[in-house]
Amino acid sequence: LRIILHRRRLLVFLLLLVAGFSPLTGCGLGESLDDAVNADLPKYRRKSNYNPQDVSDFYGKFYRKVSRRAHFEEGTTEITAIDKLPKDPFGNVNWTASVVQGLIRPRGSLDPTVEDDLPMDLNIFIEAKTPLMANVVFPHVIHTYWLSCNNCHPKIFIPEAGANPISMKEIFKGKWCGRCHNKVAFPFWPRANCVRCHIVLKGQSLHEEHFK
Ligand code: HEC
Ligand code: HEC
Ligand code: HEC
Repeated sequence: LRIILHRRRLLVFLLLLVAGFSPLTGCGLGESLDDAVNADLPKYRRKSNYNPQDVSDFYGKFYRKVSRRAHFEEGTTEITAIDKLPKDPFGNVNWTASVVQGLIRPRGSLDPTVEDDLPMDLNIFIEAKTPLMANVVFPHVIHTYWLSCNNCHPKIFIPEAGANPISMKEIFKGKWCGRCHNKVAFPFWPRANCVRCHIVLKGQSLHEEHFK
């Protein structure tokens, strides 16, 4: 077991090395919006001198893996269109997977003349402040696909990584992420839904972690 653990550490280390030195690649989705946002990005709280875009891309990999996780289950609803969409473990439609898999492409507005803003591809690391619980990645890309910046900023979240005293207790009570999740966005339970937000295992982030 020790050897396996060591090997995993080595692998993670190599991964960090690669992530740390890989050249700036740009991000495709929402690049122009990103430029605007990056102009006044606050200091990124990170372990060393990683480029913020590399850090975001690193978490993007975790997010993409999770957002494809869904199962197809037909015969659960009488609405044919919904019946064909991917489901979460609860049998509810997984809207993220539906978009990521290209099955739906909702319009920006009922008014066909309104131009929709591009989603912004920025992943924010949020440490789960307790031992063992996997850390959270907040993906801007899926949120800004559906929502505008001012749905969240500055009323729900100050737009600065680490600036909001978020806690799970308050989320469960309907604050922070709980303003939408468990209401109009996917619910907290069952456990398989916890890991749609808690996706980076302790020790696998590019950030300094205070809880192991
Ligand atoms: C669904 C809610 C939501 C929406 C919509 C949203 N954000 Fe955010 N944003 C967050 C959260 C959560 C954080 C992280 C806050 C924290 O770590 O305490 C954040 C952080 C940020 C940061 C800080 C980044 C850093 O590294 O410090 C910026 C800049 C930002 N958002 C810009 C935007 C812009 C521009 C848009 C619209 C294109 C947008 N946000 C839409 C929730 C949202
Ligand atoms: C303003 C509403 C709103 C807020 C606030 C919000 N979300 Fe979301 N979130 C959504 C919507 C809508 C979706 C699309 C998927 C759905 O409908 O379930 C989504 C999807 C996601 C996904 C995509 C993964 C998947 O499997 O679907 C993650 C991860 C996520 N949210 C995390 C968070 C976290 C973490 C916070 C708090 C820091 C947060 N969200 C706050 C509305 C919100
Ligand atoms: C919508 C996204 C989201 C979902 C779903 C979610 N969490 Fe969290 N969770 C967070 C965020 C953001 C934090 C970061 C708060 C902190 O610890 O600073 C967090 C923190 C935590 C913490 C750390 C301690 C604390 O109170 O902040 C625990 C434990 C936790 N979550 C458990 C769970 C469990 C169990 C589930 C499933 C029932 C779950 N979470 C589902 C977003 C989510």
